[in-house]
Amino acid sequence: MTVVDINAKIPNNVGLADDRRLQRALEGWQPKFIRWWEDMGPSAFQRNPVFLRTAISVGQEGWANFDHVEMPDYRWGIFLADQEPNRKIAFGDHKGEDAWQEVPGEYRSDLRRLIVVQGDTEPASVEQQRHLSLTAPSLYDMRNLFQVNVEEGRHLWAMVYLLHRYFGREGRDDADEMLMRHSGDEDNPRILGAFNEETPDWLSFFMFTYFTDRDGKYQLASLRESAFDPLSRTCDFMLKEEAYHMFVGATGVGRVVQRTLDLMREHDTDDVQPLGGLNLGLLQKYINFHYSVSLDLFGSETSTNAANYFGAGIKGRFQEERRNDDHQLKTVYRNVPHFDENGVGLREVTQLAALNETLRDDYAEDCQKGLDRWNRATADAGVDVTFTLPHAGFHRQVGTFRDAYISPTGQSISKSEWSGNVGRWLPTDADRAYVKSLMVGVTKLGEMAGWVAPPSRGIHQKPVEYDYVQL
Ligand SMILES: [Fe+2]
Ligand SMILES: [Fe+2]
Repeated sequence: MTVVDINAKIPNNVGLADDRRLQRALEGWQPKFIRWWEDMGPSAFQRNPVFLRTAISVGQEGWANFDHVEMPDYRWGIFLADQEPNRKIAFGDHKGEDAWQEVPGEYRSDLRRLIVVQGDTEPASVEQQRHLSLTAPSLYDMRNLFQVNVEEGRHLWAMVYLLHRYFGREGRDDADEMLMRHSGDEDNPRILGAFNEETPDWLSFFMFTYFTDRDGKYQLASLRESAFDPLSRTCDFMLKEEAYHMFVGATGVGRVVQRTLDLMREHDTDDVQPLGGLNLGLLQKYINFHYSVSLDLFGSETSTNAANYFGAGIKGRFQEERRNDDHQLKTVYRNVPHFDENGVGLREVTQLAALNETLRDDYAEDCQKGLDRWNRATADAGVDVTFTLPHAGFHRQVGTFRDAYISPTGQSISKSEWSGNVGRWLPTDADRAYVKSLMVGVTKLGEMAGWVAPPSRGIHQKPVEYDYVQL
């Protein structure tokens, strides 16, 4: 197992102390990161001790260490999963060759681009969520928000390490620019559109961590397959942290559903809005919105870039090595959605061309699992409502459906039909205003806002009513 230098200025298991130039460069970036965190990170509670998990090793045991810490003092570090000896490239034109420990010149710019795009999303999400602590439904939830935030900060460190270590001057400039672009900034926005929208309320936060962090999971999982071994090992470790972010989303939405069902039963009504709850129909609209914008993050159905990355060995498929095919995909085919004047259809292409769609399919299947759980809760409550994922063509800005009007069930409809119904399918301004009106910070020990049920258990064997954030 790699040795962890946990007391270093920058905790790491990459032997930073043995590379003085790199160490100096990263130590030069560190204060800029802290300044960014203080300016653009959580807008409140920065100096309150928060019960946070910190990575102090990468092994099975003990990678998660819990303690109260003030966020600017969080020990952001650089952790790569252990190296797999003699690892071979699992796919693409270099299949069977040794994995790369350095960046091959011919793929330098592609790898750099991928790392910058991935890295940019990490601080972006912190910025999007920066005001949410003010309206946290409980101290438990506030702590979870901060946990997600500090780990997204660590994910930025993970990418910045790669940029500094393997991409020289250009990489160092990229690392500086990560702190200069800001979510929603008119002049210097984050790279991906979805990361420039503010996360305006906690329902959106739970939906974001369920649907959009899950996009992150699939991007990281396909980068974990990379022939570039340091990237692979970095993503491997990031995925451990990412799992918790999706837990926050899955249980968060689940708790909202539960609270709504409880209110429905107690008051024998379908409309819990007068009771300060969130109606099931409104939750479906939020699902429709967050799922569709997250689908866009996977890109077009067919993509030459994705095919090139795959051929080069720099980005694979989800669980590449578990798949039973030639791992080159030039002569195997699949159907992808296609929209034209004849409506919604399919078109056959090589699997190599369709990698984005394949990853999107894997993602969609995973998303459905949460809905299945929430639907079990409605069924158990005897409520005849089933949450569904909208059709892949619904409300899309990217790919074949971008100029189409598609209903949640997949019907091609006219623009006027869309306009007449969109308020039933997506959150309206009034819906958002209502959700916002419920967002009042609850900071009393053990108390919970009225629109969400308490969690079934606390964090790290602590009770739900624990001082997760010390005020
Ligand atoms: Fe992340
Ligand atoms: Fe995340």
